Amino acid sequence: MPPRGKPTNRLPADSTSLSVATAMMEKLLNLPVVASEHGHDVNTLVELVHWLMGILLVGWTVFFIYTLVRFRARPGLKADYHGVRGHASTWMEVGVASFEAILLLGFAIPLWAKTVDDFPPEADSTVVRVVAEQFGWTFIYPGPDGKFGRQDLSLVTAENPFGFDPEDPSTKDNVQSMNEMYVPLKKPTIANCSSKDVIHSFKVLPLRVTQDCIPGLNIPVHFVPTATGKYQIICAQLCGNGHAAMANGFVVVETEENFKAWMDSKAGGGGTATSFE
Ligand code: CUA
Repeated sequence: MPPRGKPTNRLPADSTSLSVATAMMEKLLNLPVVASEHGHDVNTLVELVHWLMGILLVGWTVFFIYTLVRFRARPGLKADYHGVRGHASTWMEVGVASFEAILLLGFAIPLWAKTVDDFPPEADSTVVRVVAEQFGWTFIYPGPDGKFGRQDLSLVTAENPFGFDPEDPSTKDNVQSMNEMYVPLKKPTIANCSSKDVIHSFKVLPLRVTQDCIPGLNIPVHFVPTATGKYQIICAQLCGNGHAAMANGFVVVETEENFKAWMDSKAGGGGTATSFE
């Protein structure tokens, strides 16, 4: 096992043929480091799909070349219009379909159920609003009271871009951060993704998280960070001229203490002003 708390792209040592196969493919694909709990499951699925596709690519290419040579035009030979009489190709098709069914039913659907549908309780999680815009990310935390406070479209001004009610006590302890999303290590994070303008996408490769940020919608994603570090956010939707600038966003995974210290340093902004530090 690699040292705890360090990002890794290696699976834990295991000698089953499945893990040997996935470890081989992992080396070949050179996937980015994994810094979330479900990350290795995503890797396993990606690796198994690559195995199937690799076997199909090699198998069909060999078969194609064989047929080109075996059935080439030769003087005096007429085509057999009846075609193949054996059942080998049928069995191969059944084999491929079975492998695909195993991938879907045995890996993809359980992975989706676990990492996408099965949300941790909000009380045990760091809840953050991720608001994308052209061209940056704002992260809003509800502060110690756990409540974001009232928002109203009529309150939106240049100084109060999210229309928070400054009179609402729940708003006052909100914490906002531009382009830096701090989250504590080994605790679930629930990120509620939305957008102020066009469709963006919150993609953080080491966390194996990708979620579109769509204006008018609030779409939550969750993950458990397993390694401290600073991980780049990539906007995964072409959203305008400054699309590439959205790579200035980072998820910073810190220990509980450092996360608290950061939160304290950001507190007191009243929740309405965005810090551009
Ligand atoms: Cu935002 Cu691309």
